[in-house]
Amino acid sequence: MALDKFVINGGNRLKGEVQVSGAKNSALPILAASLLTEGTCTISGVPDLADTRAMGELLGDLGASVSREENGRVHVRVADERQSHARYDRVRKMRASICVLGPLLAKRKGARVAMPGGCAIGSRPVNLHLRGLRALGAQIELDGGDIVAVARKLRGAEIFLGGPFGSTVLGTANVMMAATLAEGRTVIESAACEPEIADLAAFLNAMGAKVSGAGTPRFVIDGVEQLSGAEHRIIPDRIEAGTFMIAAAITNGEINLPNVRVDHMMAVVDKLREVGVIIDKADGGAVVSTTRHLEPTDATTQPFPGFPTDLQAQLTSLLCLAEGNSAITEKVFPDRFMHVAELLRMGANIRKEGPTSIVTGVKRLIGAPVMASDLRASAALVLAGLVAKGTTTIRRVYHIDRGYEQIETKLQALGADIERVSD
Ligand code: EPU
Repeated sequence: MALDKFVINGGNRLKGEVQVSGAKNSALPILAASLLTEGTCTISGVPDLADTRAMGELLGDLGASVSREENGRVHVRVADERQSHARYDRVRKMRASICVLGPLLAKRKGARVAMPGGCAIGSRPVNLHLRGLRALGAQIELDGGDIVAVARKLRGAEIFLGGPFGSTVLGTANVMMAATLAEGRTVIESAACEPEIADLAAFLNAMGAKVSGAGTPRFVIDGVEQLSGAEHRIIPDRIEAGTFMIAAAITNGEINLPNVRVDHMMAVVDKLREVGVIIDKADGGAVVSTTRHLEPTDATTQPFPGFPTDLQAQLTSLLCLAEGNSAITEKVFPDRFMHVAELLRMGANIRKEGPTSIVTGVKRLIGAPVMASDLRASAALVLAGLVAKGTTTIRRVYHIDRGYEQIETKLQALGADIERVSD
């Protein structure tokens, strides 16, 4: 792995237009869903990221041939169903590997998937995934760090998938995918309402599944005998879009996002407007600018349609420059605060109180060498670097490459002074 770093000279106002890539968190479970059929699946708008490439390699391990065209269209076709082991080496690099469990169990009657461990954003259990699959009739045990699941026949069931932190995104994906081939009706209560899960449901329905209620907390899935290949286009990435909105706001610039889905971002748009960011809906997209002055605010992350945890760190960077005190509370991953210590190195004034950051606005951030620790924390550091006085060097940008397609190229096109340098 190349240990690239970003060198950013802050202070440029970002101006221009940027095309949002397809959503990483749609593409990953949708690629995994291709395991449910022997037909060819053609998925457009798959962002070229370390994580989507890792998923392609995992599908390869599991007997699928995966090919990618220049334009982001990916073809997946399962050729051999004998190998159903997702190894620890893959899973530890990408937690989303867990979403092959449901499809393998449903299609191949059994799977062995390494149990994901924790990550930089905290401990991340999969108990709800397993509870849901057990309710469908799977027998599941842990062996040598692997989840071993078998089910001669899956049967529809009524399943409550809420946990202590609300619904589970990939847990809903796993149970929904398994239920498409179960016998009879499955009802998932407290299902994840995220647009990425609705996107997965749309893909499953294109394959011939009978899923209704997507986008609501109650999904009904009527099992079918088999699924066929299908074509699908991934929705635009609302987290990437939100990151560029904040880039416009933090640099006092003006960015046009012609393909952003504002309807997927109401909580974000609402919060940014409260802070004083101007967001004009235009021709299906949005234009984002500022009045220079940023107001402080309170924000709490929640499952969709609440403010997304995946934009918590980026919002924190913005509020570092608001006039007054803000409070940002993390209700999805209460330990997701890796960005705070690095922002302090850049002159931010942030105090942690349990799962809350109290941010007191400062006049300016100051460039510094900092370290990327996870995907969204790294995005927050890039945003801070764009406005900081002087030079910011961000090491370990492989974290960013997991989830942002060509972020430096897109930022350069908007006028940012950012360069990728190999360390
Ligand atoms: N949880 C449980 N038990 C479970 C599953 C989850 O207690 O079995 C808890 C988690 O610990 C957490 C909460 O439920 O407190 C929500 O976790 P969820 O399962 O929804 O997260 P995920 O599905 O593993 C996806 C995204 C994350 C995003 C979260 C929340 C993908 C590939 N990942 O993870 O994205 O933060 O939903 O929206 O879709 C990112 O893109 O940077 C990222 C981390």
